Amino acid sequence: MKALGPIPAGFAALDGELAIGGRKVSVLVKEAGDTPLFVYSRDMIDARLAALRGAMPERLNIHYAMKANPFASLLEHMAELVDGLDIASGGELRQARDAGFLPREISFAGPGKRDAEIFAAVKAGVTLNLESANEAQRALEAGTALGIAPRLAIRVNPDFELRGSGMKMGGGAKPFGIDKAQVPELAKKIIAAGAQWRGLHIYTGSQALDADAVIETQANVLDLAAQLSEEIGTPLPHLNMGGGFGIPYFDKDTPLDIAKVGAALKERFAALPSILQETDFAIELGRYLVGEAGVYLTRIVDRKVSHGVTYLVTDGGLHHQLAASGNFGTVVRRNYPAAIATRFGAEPEEEVNIVGCLCTPLDRLADQAMMPRAEVGDIVAIFCAGAYGASASPASFLGQGPAKEMLV
Ligand SMILES: Cc1ncc(COP(=O)(O)O)c(C=O)c1O
Repeated sequence: MKALGPIPAGFAALDGELAIGGRKVSVLVKEAGDTPLFVYSRDMIDARLAALRGAMPERLNIHYAMKANPFASLLEHMAELVDGLDIASGGELRQARDAGFLPREISFAGPGKRDAEIFAAVKAGVTLNLESANEAQRALEAGTALGIAPRLAIRVNPDFELRGSGMKMGGGAKPFGIDKAQVPELAKKIIAAGAQWRGLHIYTGSQALDADAVIETQANVLDLAAQLSEEIGTPLPHLNMGGGFGIPYFDKDTPLDIAKVGAALKERFAALPSILQETDFAIELGRYLVGEAGVYLTRIVDRKVSHGVTYLVTDGGLHHQLAASGNFGTVVRRNYPAAIATRFGAEPEEEVNIVGCLCTPLDRLADQAMMPRAEVGDIVAIFCAGAYGASASPASFLGQGPAKEMLV
């Protein structure tokens, strides 16, 4: 038997079924038309934001990194809740505008920005988090061509990383950001060229569950921002401190202690150096805001036994939930939280392998999991599906097509 990850708090059983937003999964699937289906809970996102705001210093802005989940209804909802949005492409810029985000709320990070994307961002008045000197030059040229002073910030590649993070995005040679030693000169050049100086972006990693590591990194980020601002010679207008807050996906993962992180940040904010006194601070979070609020529902279409192993074969799989299959940023595959949603809360009775419908051994949703006995027609729930699910999975693989999505 292999353990499953912890089911996020906030899910209840109703008449023996998993309920999301107070409604049974069978009803939600009927409303959507079919499985596979991603369901995102508005209430859980709201609760997450409220708890986070309660824990963090009032002065800290919370931005949403829409790469985690760009589903249109969810994005529209986020536009009401957060103070800003991090985008990573011209495509995300269009989705963000459609969802109602204002250009001044949006910042655009990510290596490899094309000319057309830079042009569109400058024209709209979006802040570009510059990833290279070349990008800075192209952004300034776009501003000249458009007769607009572009809103420019520099993404810094710091010398440190976020300890224990699932994905490290700072420290050493990286395609992200500009090495800290090169930042002051470039910032001075941008300011002298007449751009609107929007400060620094320091993003060091993702999926951290250790509060002490986050606290240490935030302290390093503040120190580095102060040091660079001194060298640039101007107070810092804006500091995007990154994020990296993780969620528990696997057995023995424990939630990030945001009360501890918030308390430490309050202390730091109470003793800021003068060059950061007027700075507008933000963190940008993706999975922490939406990851646990999403459930992937897929129906069992076959039940079979091979060499004594029971397989529950579903109509979904890695083409929608690549991360749960263990093929998106993990070295060793472990089980996400999962349940038989139409027998939610029933006693586990048998060990099963839950697989997808793709003809590849990679398509595994739960390995050697203890579950109540399930039959063809039952619905499986894979939890922690609100981030890096639908949009981060190869939906066209084997001609399967995308899953349905709904916000409830
Ligand atoms: C620049 C940047 N911001 C935000 C994020 C969002 O990360 P997460 O969803 O883990 O919060 C990432 C993730 O890779 C990123 O690269």
